[in-house]
Amino acid sequence: MATEKTFYLETFGCQMNAHDSEKVIGTLEHEGYRQVESEEDAGLILYNTCSIRDKAEQKVFHRLDEYKRQHREGKRFAVLGCVAQQEGEKIFERAPYVSLVSGSASYRKLPEMLVRLEAGETRITGLDDRQTDETFETEFTARQNPYRGYITIIEGCDKFCAYCVVPFTRGKERSRGSDSVLAEARRIADQGYTEIQLLGQNVNSYRDPEGKRSFAELLAAVGEVAGIRRVRFTTSHPRDFTRDIVEAIDAVPTLCDHVHLPVQSGSSRILKAMNREYTREDYLERISWIKAARRPISISTDIIVGFPGETEEDLIQTMDLLAEVEYDCVFGFKYSGRPNTPALTMIDSISEAEKARRLQVVLDRQREIQRVNYAKHLGQIMEVMVEGANPARGQVIGRSSQNKPVNFTCAQAIAPAPGSYVQVKITATHPNSLAGEAV
Ligand code: SAH
Ligand code: SF4
Ligand code: F3S
Repeated sequence: MATEKTFYLETFGCQMNAHDSEKVIGTLEHEGYRQVESEEDAGLILYNTCSIRDKAEQKVFHRLDEYKRQHREGKRFAVLGCVAQQEGEKIFERAPYVSLVSGSASYRKLPEMLVRLEAGETRITGLDDRQTDETFETEFTARQNPYRGYITIIEGCDKFCAYCVVPFTRGKERSRGSDSVLAEARRIADQGYTEIQLLGQNVNSYRDPEGKRSFAELLAAVGEVAGIRRVRFTTSHPRDFTRDIVEAIDAVPTLCDHVHLPVQSGSSRILKAMNREYTREDYLERISWIKAARRPISISTDIIVGFPGETEEDLIQTMDLLAEVEYDCVFGFKYSGRPNTPALTMIDSISEAEKARRLQVVLDRQREIQRVNYAKHLGQIMEVMVEGANPARGQVIGRSSQNKPVNFTCAQAIAPAPGSYVQVKITATHPNSLAGEAV
């Protein structure tokens, strides 16, 4: 009798990684593996890694060593994702018990790599050379998210921002055909999903290889798929953000009232050093298009503080920008030097403590902005999609179209299921969430 093939997969990083894992799980299952809940029960342990900040590679090695200590003989290890691509064969030197190392641009070769793994090979690599134009499409995607169907429409990145590893870890920018995207959207709808999130490192840099649809047209077409009630997309790059995206949101009710548009810095001087290819003014022009929409489009962003050479004056410009845009959500990060990136050669004389101070200043300011923004929802009734529950507090957890977290109480004995929609009256507001009751 053949022994059962089992695997355990742990995922870190962005939504693209989360969705890649759904595709990897589906591929493994198709190859006869069964997913288990713990490392102990698994024959194959896979680690889907992220390399975006903070010595990510060291953390991966620590984790692998820990796994190894706890789970002695007979197990095999695979490192996937951005650290895998970044460190490549060095992983075998540092962690000799690892048998497979693959970056995301090589996942389409996974079935073949798994056959080699089963044949006992111990140094299998799937590493990208920024040459491939192929995307990873599979009909076997094992969707793990109960309420949101992810679809990757563009992979890789060609932007080479001075601080960023992604162009080195995820390969060349390459888009999927829009017919294939729409076919997947219909499949997702048939499976019962009502929310779709289109994904790409720069989702709006999408260029249909078949030349049939622009990004905005694809967005609208996905929004018109029967059964779909909410469409989100992330992340938008300001340089490629065009007015027709806002027009599509205005025209198609299922497109959510939310745009995530990472600015990184409010100083044109720093933006230039970052190689972002837009100025503060260009960015604010795009914001003005979004604000001129008929729909109440919520705007969120990412900020990096402490990029090499950032002065107090640059930081003030970022603070001014926060106040001008009035974001509903800001993800703030301390600059962290990453392997291979041009910024690594710049003089990084800002101390960790100073970076931490700058980040705190930004987040404190933003908290006040959000307090005011969120307070405007008091008394409103809004549609919330249920994502889960917090039984201890007797609350249901969900999200508004604007992507704001909403915690609410519900008179029903049985909490509404993830993926269902509830009308909620907002009775209290906080800087990061809304609270209310189902009506
Ligand atoms: N493609 C998206 C962002 C992808 S990475 C874009 O261009 O907007 C997600 C976020 O991580 C970035 O927006 C940036 O704010 C942050 N980030 C990326 N590299 C970083 C680094 N080296 N140090 C600190 N933050 C970083
Ligand atoms: Fe990184 Fe810039 Fe590409 Fe975004 S656009 S993934 S920040 S290189
Ligand atoms: Fe991390 Fe790679 Fe995503 S570095 S943020 S997992 S693209």
